[in-house]
Amino acid sequence: MVARQVVWSEKELPRGRATDLALRRLQVKFTGREVPVWIGPRSREELPVLLGARRDLSHIHLVADSEVHKLHGPSLVRLLEATGKPVSVSMVPSGEASKCAGELFRLWQEMVRAGCNRDSCVVAFGGGVVGDLGGFAAASVFRGIDLVQVPTTLLAMVDASVGGKTAINLPEGKNLVGAFHQPLGVVMDLDYLATLPDRQWISGWAEVIKTAAIRSARLFEGLESRAAGLLGKEPDALAGVIEACCKIKADVVGEDEREAGLRRILNFGHTLAHGIETVAEYAGFLHGEAVAMGMSFAAELGEALGVTRRGAASRLEACLRSYGLPVKATGLRAKDLLEAMEFDKKRGPAGLRWVLLTEIGDTKTVDGVPAEVVRAQLERFLGG
Ligand SMILES: NC(=O)c1ccc[n+]([C@@H]2O[C@H](COP(=O)([O-])OP(=O)(O)OC[C@H]3O[C@@H](n4cnc5c(N)ncnc54)[C@H](O)[C@@H]3O)[C@@H](O)[C@H]2O)c1
Ligand SMILES: [Zn+2]
Repeated sequence: MVARQVVWSEKELPRGRATDLALRRLQVKFTGREVPVWIGPRSREELPVLLGARRDLSHIHLVADSEVHKLHGPSLVRLLEATGKPVSVSMVPSGEASKCAGELFRLWQEMVRAGCNRDSCVVAFGGGVVGDLGGFAAASVFRGIDLVQVPTTLLAMVDASVGGKTAINLPEGKNLVGAFHQPLGVVMDLDYLATLPDRQWISGWAEVIKTAAIRSARLFEGLESRAAGLLGKEPDALAGVIEACCKIKADVVGEDEREAGLRRILNFGHTLAHGIETVAEYAGFLHGEAVAMGMSFAAELGEALGVTRRGAASRLEACLRSYGLPVKATGLRAKDLLEAMEFDKKRGPAGLRWVLLTEIGDTKTVDGVPAEVVRAQLERFLGG
């Protein structure tokens, strides 16, 4: 695999808007495409410019989360209509269940019936569910048309909307069918976060803390010292943190677009998190909550194995707590979790692969962690 270069710049911001201070633009370079990412209050106003720059654009198809559309849809449609192109809308029921083949099929049909063609552009408007589903619809209809991501959750801003992964779920498992499809651009309007339910907002912070913990001690320190301002949605601080996370994600993904190696570090905390989500049947915990517990466990496991510097786990846990995230899994059994991680069945005596911290800001992938060590640590974790 050829090592790829990622660049970003904070150039040429259009000036003159009262809120410009917090508006940032990154230019992220992936294979064959430079993806502009706008971050800031009212950054949605960049959409007509972004779409207007696309020559031969024939039609815009908005794929919107139903809840988000109720709150913010009409003003977005007006903005899209400012391009002078026809705009059609598909509404997607809010929730993970919509990331399915049935919804994808419906979207394909609605797009064709609405008059979309190869020169149309999908605008995915909502959290990661709509980003993944709408993104996959764009990647597949007419063998792939343009896509613009307009993420409206913190999780989708810092994680799902950057990197080019799109997918739907099967009854057999999550994200089993999908495509890599880089968007024309990503517009992260911080104003949308004002209406995000508190629990979703807090849950998104787990991925922010993860991003810092795996790659940037400096960002982590910033998160530790500025929790109050960040949780209070202070625009400039928030834009800075989202920007830093996007740079890190772009950096990691750019070096490893198809998940051959480095990209795995983004899975820090996710081994146990996926186990927790499976055991709780996706109903008990939000993804970020499970990731927070998973990171806390991975840090403790890393310390027990002598891979992680002593004290890193308690520092990580203190940071997670200060954002209102859980660090201990209660009411779950080690046996169920180990089974859900397919620990015994698939990995056998070689053990699982774990992404562990060496210290805050750096990671190491460790293969073949013995089953007994994980089991013993998990029992301590659940009991403590
Ligand atoms: N493609 C990737 O690289 C990637 C990365 C991480 C996660 N994901 C996927 O993302 C999905 C999770 O995304 P999510 O956490 O954003 O969940 P989500 O899309 O389900 O949104 C969460 C909830 O918040 C509501 N909502 C969204 N924005 C709102 C707003 N501004 N105001 C009020 N309500 C709002 C939605 O209606 C929904 O009920 C999962 O399916 C996951 O697999 C993908
Ligand atoms: Zn995650």
